[in-house]
Amino acid sequence: DTPVLLDSYGRIATDLRVSVTDRCNLRCTYCMPAEGLNWLAKSALLDTGELIRLIEIAVLKLGVTELRFTGGEPLLRKDLEEVLAASAALSPRPLLSLTTNGIGLERRAEALAAAGVDRVNVSLDTIQRDRYAELTRRDRLPDVLAGLRAARAAGLAPVKVNAVLMRGVNEDEAVPLLEFCLDGGYELRFIEQMPLDPQHGWDRAEMVSGPEILAALRTKFTLTPHTAERGAAPAERWQVDGGPATVGVIASVSQPFCSACDRTRLTADGQLRSCLFGQDETDLRGPMRAGATDEQLAERWRAAMWAKPAGHGINEVGFAQPARPMSAIGG
Ligand code: GTP
Ligand code: 5AD
Ligand code: SF4
Repeated sequence: DTPVLLDSYGRIATDLRVSVTDRCNLRCTYCMPAEGLNWLAKSALLDTGELIRLIEIAVLKLGVTELRFTGGEPLLRKDLEEVLAASAALSPRPLLSLTTNGIGLERRAEALAAAGVDRVNVSLDTIQRDRYAELTRRDRLPDVLAGLRAARAAGLAPVKVNAVLMRGVNEDEAVPLLEFCLDGGYELRFIEQMPLDPQHGWDRAEMVSGPEILAALRTKFTLTPHTAERGAAPAERWQVDGGPATVGVIASVSQPFCSACDRTRLTADGQLRSCLFGQDETDLRGPMRAGATDEQLAERWRAAMWAKPAGHGINEVGFAQPARPMSAIGG
């Protein structure tokens, strides 16, 4: 009954990613079709109380110290501030962060900060309005830019920007995106595209790799390795032109970081995932609704994490995508 989530490879999960909805108000072409996906029914979703209960178990019984709220788009949950405030009231208080597309952030940044959010990551793949509208199928770039400014003004530091570069789509934007983030005081990270799309159309040759991104940035900037301990962080960071600004590359595919993984995940319908890419999910919602005790739920959680796979296996023969796409897992 140790208060930790240990796996059979000796890793300890202290970082819980909670997906609070599978829905999104954008339709990024690499993430979902124009018509959206088959959303979870309202009754399948964890409600406010259920979310708070599982978070309490994670923090109080399982040693989780960091919570990240994701989606779909987490700001679509009206009770997000309530869940955050309850999380922030726990002792020891977990670190709280949010990964959002930025729509609606302008209006809610202050309330999120007041509820206890420490920092936010905002997804932004292009700073060209036309291209944004094409890529996300919604003309909302101005809302995202306003959201970024509001997050900065609300003191949600650091504000990170996540960008996925795609060949023939926005691969020419490495330098402009970095210039934009340097100017705004945002910490930019480029993400290698992973095989998590619902269409199962991922193609390694189409992926703009970490080394390619660094080469593009070096045509304009001097990048030197960042000296801070990387720990379990997915991003490898570089100091830009001597610092203090940094840029990161999340090279999940070409340089997997699974051996240092400290994550455990909860889907919006209460399924526990030990790995972003695992095939197995463990139902916590069913037992919870059937009257399981906190200790019984914690025990299921421990057992599921013990069975966590060594790595994502993307580079191995026989790799199979998880049944659910990125938007339903929470990234
Ligand atoms: P920070 O704590 O701010 O560094 O957050 P993060 O980068 O872990 O989280 P974020 O939600 O911003 O995710 C950025 C990208 O990293 C997304 O594409 C995620 O899917 C990916 N990512 C996050 N955690 C993992 C992980 O455990 N494994 C893999 N392969 N990718 C991950
Ligand atoms: N591979 C890598 N990153 C992805 N994201 C969405 N789908 C993928 C994918 N298949 C990104 C989003 C967002 C972050 C949470 O994950 O663009 O920035
Ligand atoms: Fe929505 Fe994020 Fe998927 Fe884009 S990548 S459709 S913002 S969940």
